[in-house]
Amino acid sequence: MAKVCVITGGGSGMGLEAAKFMPKDKIIVISGRTMSKLENGVNELKALGFEAYAKTCDTSSRESVKELVEFAQSLGEITNVINSAGVSPAMKGTPENILKINALGTVYVNQEFSKVMNAGSVIVDVSSNSAYVLPSFIIPKKAYPLAETNEELFVQKLVKKSKLAKGEYQQKGFAYSLSKNFVVWYAKKCAFEYGLKGIRVVSLSPGLIATDMGNLEKEEGGMLIPFACEERMGKPEELGFALATVADERNGYLAGVDVLCDGGSTNGMKEFKKKKK
Ligand SMILES: NC(=O)c1ccc[n+]([C@@H]2O[C@H](COP(=O)([O-])OP(=O)(O)OC[C@H]3O[C@@H](n4cnc5c(N)ncnc54)[C@H](OP(=O)(O)O)[C@@H]3O)[C@@H](O)[C@H]2O)c1
Repeated sequence: MAKVCVITGGGSGMGLEAAKFMPKDKIIVISGRTMSKLENGVNELKALGFEAYAKTCDTSSRESVKELVEFAQSLGEITNVINSAGVSPAMKGTPENILKINALGTVYVNQEFSKVMNAGSVIVDVSSNSAYVLPSFIIPKKAYPLAETNEELFVQKLVKKSKLAKGEYQQKGFAYSLSKNFVVWYAKKCAFEYGLKGIRVVSLSPGLIATDMGNLEKEEGGMLIPFACEERMGKPEELGFALATVADERNGYLAGVDVLCDGGSTNGMKEFKKKKK
């Protein structure tokens, strides 16, 4: 049976770059909300020799995620899911919007795909090093389990927290950090749950990367760059390679952790460079 790799948010950025590092014997399905982006991505992948398909999907809708699962399943056995779909504070939208896409979207993707995946398969959820910037006392971790039992209350509680920040961008930034902190927590939770079925779950947290999103966030997100080891942004292809290797079946013992792929900026800020400056 053909093996299928599904990449949400695969029409651009690090999701599309990850596809390029997947083994060529996998069928690649890239998804997102904008068909024109997906078509361009599929053309790029086909030119590189991949069998690739585009399927629109809004990960903030469970029904839409179910349709993506059904489409991918019609092509073969789903062995790899890279969940790279996400929105950031500098984009249009509200804190609620950010939480629904980044946090609830991850719940829908993990839950719906894991229902049809078999032992030896893998889900990689893309988080962010923003997950690490908030002091722990401010993170409403007790509200996290609500994402599976009472979505509305979950979003309400996290939106309320994010409104503590002053200014529209700051509130969206707070919601973004909370959404990504949730992704790290949720991927770990799923890893221990799905691990019993042989499905591996890992999250990967990029630092500031020069994708469309990263370039939009450069002004605010760039504050961490001086703390990175090489004091530079990451390249989309570097993150694509990192995602593809984490998603590689040969990495079978990498599970239940977050891979912080941020050029060292989080550690630089917290431990090292801060002391030097
Ligand atoms: N670039 C950075 O500096 C950075 C840093 C840390 C973490 N990240 C995370 O890395 C991931 C990939 O981002 P990127 O940097 O590669 O940026 P990107 O090029 O903007 O990729 C994000 C993709 O997600 C898709 N998307 C957005 N909302 C969606 C939804 N509701 N349903 C399905 N797809 C959706 C977008 O396509 P449509 O708009 O067409 O749907 C887009 O193709 C995101 O989760 C982001 O939060 C990025």
